[in-house]
Amino acid sequence: MTDNKKRVKWDSNLSFLLAMIGSAVGLGNIWRFPYVAYTNGGGAFLIPYIISILFMGIPLLFVEYGAGFKFKSGISRITHKINPKYEYLGWFIQMSPFLILSYYVCVVAWDLMYVPVSFFKGWGTNPEQFFNTVLLQNNVHISGLLHISIYVLISMLIIWAIIWFISHRNLNDGIGKANRILTPMLFIMMIIIVLFALTLPGASIGLATLFTPDWNAIFNPNIWSAAFGQILFSLSIGMTITLAYASYLPDDVNIPKSALTVAIANSSFEVFTAVGVFSILGFMSLTNNIPIGQLVSQGTGLAFIVFPQIFNVMGTVGYVIGPLFFLCLLFAGITSNISIIEPLSLSLQDKFSTSRSKAVSIVCAFAFVISLLFSTSYGSTLLGIFDTFTNQFGLLLNVVIQTTLLAIIYGLDNLLPGLNKNATFLKLGKKWMLLVSYFIPLITLLLWIDGVSRNVIFVDTTTMIIELILLMIMIILPIILTKIPSKNDDF
Ligand code: ALA
Repeated sequence: MTDNKKRVKWDSNLSFLLAMIGSAVGLGNIWRFPYVAYTNGGGAFLIPYIISILFMGIPLLFVEYGAGFKFKSGISRITHKINPKYEYLGWFIQMSPFLILSYYVCVVAWDLMYVPVSFFKGWGTNPEQFFNTVLLQNNVHISGLLHISIYVLISMLIIWAIIWFISHRNLNDGIGKANRILTPMLFIMMIIIVLFALTLPGASIGLATLFTPDWNAIFNPNIWSAAFGQILFSLSIGMTITLAYASYLPDDVNIPKSALTVAIANSSFEVFTAVGVFSILGFMSLTNNIPIGQLVSQGTGLAFIVFPQIFNVMGTVGYVIGPLFFLCLLFAGITSNISIIEPLSLSLQDKFSTSRSKAVSIVCAFAFVISLLFSTSYGSTLLGIFDTFTNQFGLLLNVVIQTTLLAIIYGLDNLLPGLNKNATFLKLGKKWMLLVSYFIPLITLLLWIDGVSRNVIFVDTTTMIIELILLMIMIILPIILTKIPSKNDDF
């Protein structure tokens, strides 16, 4: 795998771009961005958001592109090459995406159940009860671990089978082909939904709510933290997915242009989606005379409870828009899900010279076992704990480790020749290096301290125990993977 001549490559630049966009555009863009933007100053949020893209998101994308392109391998081999004593950190970085993989599958599985149900509005007149009681058989107490929801389990098995099947095939027949089909379909369906949403009565109320700026918000540090968090999540930064995908790039790619295309496509998609989501919420607000602030909710609440309520109110057209919406979430979820398998499976191939198919099967098998926890009645609560811990603790820390290793210890000037090789209008240089070497690690470290102290430390005992178990996994598994001798002479 490490012989560059034999190394598999994307069959076209378009395949790579669609895979990157498919990875970035995920559940996070559709249900997370509208809520985060609304609760953080509405229109004023767009300013920290755009600044975060320009000064944090895109520069970090360049780092992952540069490292993947230069080393043609996953992060573990890269950290080992920098210095064998850093190999451990390479494996550590991959623990958060590995844990995210285990619960991301479950959310996509929830959505899968809604695809057939939405054709006949099978959630009935009480979507909240349908979601929490019928499907999830929700129990917020830890004893819920002893009961399995058969619907969630079956749905999860189907999603695992799909993502394993796509990922275990060779790069272009698996990930490449899936993204060439699903990513354009996702965009087309979302365009239909948003155009339709804009014609609804009340759409303007929703848009005014989303875009009316609260200028005071600009001076609130939490807004900046939320904006950066959204960019990290949305561009999948800190998971080394970009790094893994970029390691398969052909030599003639214009990297700055490619990274800008991905960032612009991802952000345009999420702002465009928010326009649709808020138009629909505006419609509900007008029709049922409910203040829009009471309708806006995050994640599961928005997708699986509020939206089904709105599809009920829409009448016949709800039978069309409902399935389109849940199919969008499904396609966005699957293309992101397969990308989260990639970093760890690539590192296993690098170190142990295993086939792609075997490495993917191993990653999926381990993540599958963990994911079974989310099919229990405690699954939804547990998922929230995993999500907060991996994002607030894991991903931000990953950015700090990654920038320290690649920028400060290895040196970004070593990545520059590859990054600028085919660059045309934008060439990277000193300003980018200063940003990534000093500004970004420092800001990220501050955000990490803030996030961990606010959301990870002051929690109830059960949450604390679960977080400690996750921390143990994140520390011990990389020790094992570092200690096992490599089967690759060039590792
Ligand atoms: N970037 C992916 C998402 O937005 C992980 O869901």
